[in-house]
Amino acid sequence: MPYRLLNLLLVIILAINAPAQTGQFRPQLHFSPTEHWMNDPNGMYYNNGVYHLFFQYYPGGTKWGPMHWGHATSKNLLNWKEEPIALYPDSLGYIFSGSAVVDKNNTSGFGKNGKTPIVAIFTHHDPVGEKEKRKDYQVQSLAYSLDDGMTWTKYAGNPVLKNPGIVDFRDPKVNWNKKISKWVMTLATKDRISFYSSPNLKDWTKLSEFGETLGAHGGVWECPDLFPLTHKGKEYWVLLVSINPGGPNGGSATQYFIGDFDGKNFIPADTTTRFMDYGTDNYAGVTINNTGDRVILIGWMSNWLYAESVPTVKWRSAMTLPRELGLKEVNGKPWLVSVPAKEVARLDKNDQPRGEEKALTKKNEALKWTMDKGDSGKPGWTLSEGDSLMRLHFDLPVNDFNVTLSNTKSKTVVGFDKESNRFYIDRTEGGIDNFYPGFAKRHWAPRISTNDRISVNLIVDVMSVEFFADGGLTVMTDIFFPVPAYTLATLSSAGLQQIQNLGTYRLIPTAAK
Ligand code: FRU
Repeated sequence: MPYRLLNLLLVIILAINAPAQTGQFRPQLHFSPTEHWMNDPNGMYYNNGVYHLFFQYYPGGTKWGPMHWGHATSKNLLNWKEEPIALYPDSLGYIFSGSAVVDKNNTSGFGKNGKTPIVAIFTHHDPVGEKEKRKDYQVQSLAYSLDDGMTWTKYAGNPVLKNPGIVDFRDPKVNWNKKISKWVMTLATKDRISFYSSPNLKDWTKLSEFGETLGAHGGVWECPDLFPLTHKGKEYWVLLVSINPGGPNGGSATQYFIGDFDGKNFIPADTTTRFMDYGTDNYAGVTINNTGDRVILIGWMSNWLYAESVPTVKWRSAMTLPRELGLKEVNGKPWLVSVPAKEVARLDKNDQPRGEEKALTKKNEALKWTMDKGDSGKPGWTLSEGDSLMRLHFDLPVNDFNVTLSNTKSKTVVGFDKESNRFYIDRTEGGIDNFYPGFAKRHWAPRISTNDRISVNLIVDVMSVEFFADGGLTVMTDIFFPVPAYTLATLSSAGLQQIQNLGTYRLIPTAAK
């Protein structure tokens, strides 16, 4: 090929692939760092009216690197303020995932002058040991803060839990267990979960193991969580386990078990494998500590298959919206449900509803509404002001439906296939997808509910859709990179005339980034 022609071709290819010139894809409602790499949420806790989100962070680039704990705070789970980096790597290694507790009774003894210590329990990952192919390079350590999470001191006695020779030995999630009046650590140990207990966060005793022969095992087990949920007066224990790879639609995903934790062992109620979210982009999610009766989860809205190569330039990765967890019964058995936390339906400043709910007036027509400025002139509603930010809910008798999010060039379709009784998100023509061969795909999720109506709740925010079906029994989260952002949402279904409770909300972006 003549040199000049080749050159021209290259320019055209580059122009198509130049996300820097075509928008940053930065979400407006979801937390994302202003710059650099982020993965798992860590050490989340609530105290004195403030939510603290720490996260796996590499301030030296937009790909995974030596891990720090980044930090952000929020009063309402939506408007996040980035704070200075909380934890830096040290002589014991990188700071991998973990949790934080509000040690009200000063069991750790870190408290001074009546100040409540916040204690972070995290994995130290020694890159030298890893290189030398040792087996014990991941250990559990502590850091504490006496100014409510703003500055941290590493414990001089680290590590507090040494490695018995297990290569993957990480991601401690610690909660206070009322039954045994001790702290319980839920730890990912390769292909199973190990439970430990401690009176003071410093001395740990092994309680038991769970899961070697149960659940999905397509990859390593990571980032677990264990917490009680009450349903119809009965207490159940839920164990979350992220796996990578081995997710139902490829790569990373989070499975869960329901059963009992008697203070020593986790006893599953059955042997069914269940997933908290069937989309490809909700990983390493855990709950926020110290939230009283509420159980609120935030996950990392990406997938290890392609997280490092998504077409964002300055920043990498966002968190999911906060989700409230509960239980619902289907055929006499409890299942986990997750729904957007109630804060999502509110304005940031005055606690007003986010946007207006509009009544459905024209039942016989295909419903169309625009997400950009101005009226489309078609039946429907103007939603947000060029922000590609919307919430939509409706319910209908069990029937095929699809909601298409689109611009003139690309689309993502969220829907239900009655014949196979499955929901889906199809991002085959979603936008930029050349950064990973398997990105352009349709993802499937089973319908778990047996209700004769399907309820749908969707939240779209520039580069993501979060899809909560049947009150959160089936959930899917997917990201996409359309250029320009989607401006239109279209709902169609054979059962259009029986749609009820249709609400479309114009969402108000959170504080400027
Ligand atoms: C999960 C994970 C954790 C680990 C961290 C490292 O995404 O692999 O198991 O602690 O990321 O950044």
